[in-house]
Amino acid sequence: MKKLIIKGNKELSGEIHIGGAKNSVVALIPTTCLTKGISVIKNVPDISDVSMLITMMEYLGSKITYKDEVLTIDNSNLKVKPIPTEYSSALRASYYFMGSLGGHFKNAEISYPGGCTIGARPIDIHLNSFKKQGFKVTEKDGTYTMTAKKISGGEIFFDFPSVGATINVMLTSVLAEGTTRIINAAREPEIINVADFLINMGAKIEGAGTAEIVIHGVKELHGAEIEVIPDRIEAGTYLIIGSLLGKNLTISGVNREHIISLTSKLQDAGVKLKYNKDKIIVNKSKNLKAVNVKTSVYPGFPTDLGQPMSAFLTQCKGESLFEETIYENRLRHIPYLTTMGAKIQSWEKKAVIIGPAQLKGRKVKATDLRAGASLLVAGMIATGTTEVYNIEHLLRGYENLVNKLNACGADIKLIDY
Ligand code: EPU
Repeated sequence: MKKLIIKGNKELSGEIHIGGAKNSVVALIPTTCLTKGISVIKNVPDISDVSMLITMMEYLGSKITYKDEVLTIDNSNLKVKPIPTEYSSALRASYYFMGSLGGHFKNAEISYPGGCTIGARPIDIHLNSFKKQGFKVTEKDGTYTMTAKKISGGEIFFDFPSVGATINVMLTSVLAEGTTRIINAAREPEIINVADFLINMGAKIEGAGTAEIVIHGVKELHGAEIEVIPDRIEAGTYLIIGSLLGKNLTISGVNREHIISLTSKLQDAGVKLKYNKDKIIVNKSKNLKAVNVKTSVYPGFPTDLGQPMSAFLTQCKGESLFEETIYENRLRHIPYLTTMGAKIQSWEKKAVIIGPAQLKGRKVKATDLRAGASLLVAGMIATGTTEVYNIEHLLRGYENLVNKLNACGADIKLIDY
């Protein structure tokens, strides 16, 4: 097990470069299973979810090299095999093998996907869509088997614009017979990144990034290249930290269009940001004002930044209402913030955060990835030393976190216990 030891209240200056997006790359890697060609993925972050997906691809017969953030995947010996539970339970994105193996071989077998325990996280929208396309889907002891004689196009309406289901249905539709329309599709930037990769592979897709995606099935795809988009959640986390501790801290390699929901809230709270091409320069802001934050689907405020943002709100004067709307259990970091001195009343998926409160270093536990990010922010602004246990969660999503922050003046150690 690993923990972070953070000595708080250190001013940060210098530059933090943002890596490739976790939630894109974890879809782009399984996407390559739609072809037996060679694919190249650039700007791949060095995070544990990527290592796990490489292991899964090698199990399926791929030959992989990973050097200087470039992943080359040779699928000439790719075979469809049941994916063992120890792999599928390691991360949520393992469900993309349903779409990519199902799309290519019309057959996939995989156990229920893992990922952070932040709610029930059902996959009914994925499964119902696969069934509509002609797959027979069965479940036994948590393992799903899907087989089809023919994958058909048609209209698929989502009750909720699920990110995972949108990508999965794109994966099963690109080689389907006829045209598929996904209605009420998710619009997250990661969807566009995956669609662009599929288009480079020879797929015919229109409307990715809007609520209606149209996919005209083709006979075959080939290997292709793609660059992973910048991680908007990593960028947002460092902007939040910079708003509390920065002295001309530069966050570089950012796509600012992707984080307007965050930058506009930070500015409402009184943070001054300077933009220069793909860079945002941020300074510690005095007299921060309370703001209300409600998470929602893109382009709304991302649920994945809600937890780090709640640590920011502890420093804003007045009462901020924080509301999570995507997951049932994304407030499990709140008791730890309270232990550190934050004044928070929370119920169901809401919290009233009363600030500013001086946080004090304590021993706390990361219950999930973004809870870890929240406690990192809290530890960095607290007096004294904070120890964040179970930090493996955080390392799943933030590349080279300790070095990136320490290079700018933080005092953080990652140690085994
Ligand atoms: N939902 C259903 N049925 C489904 C699918 C989703 O009810 O079949 C519900 C879920 O219960 C959840 C909501 O819809 O309440 C959101 O699910 P969605 O499918 O949109 O999310 P996901 O694909 O499971 C991805 C990211 C999450 C991120 C969400 C929302 C990956 C691997 N995960 O999850 O990332 O929170 O989109 O943006 O891409 C994280 O990075 O910390 C993380 C949890």
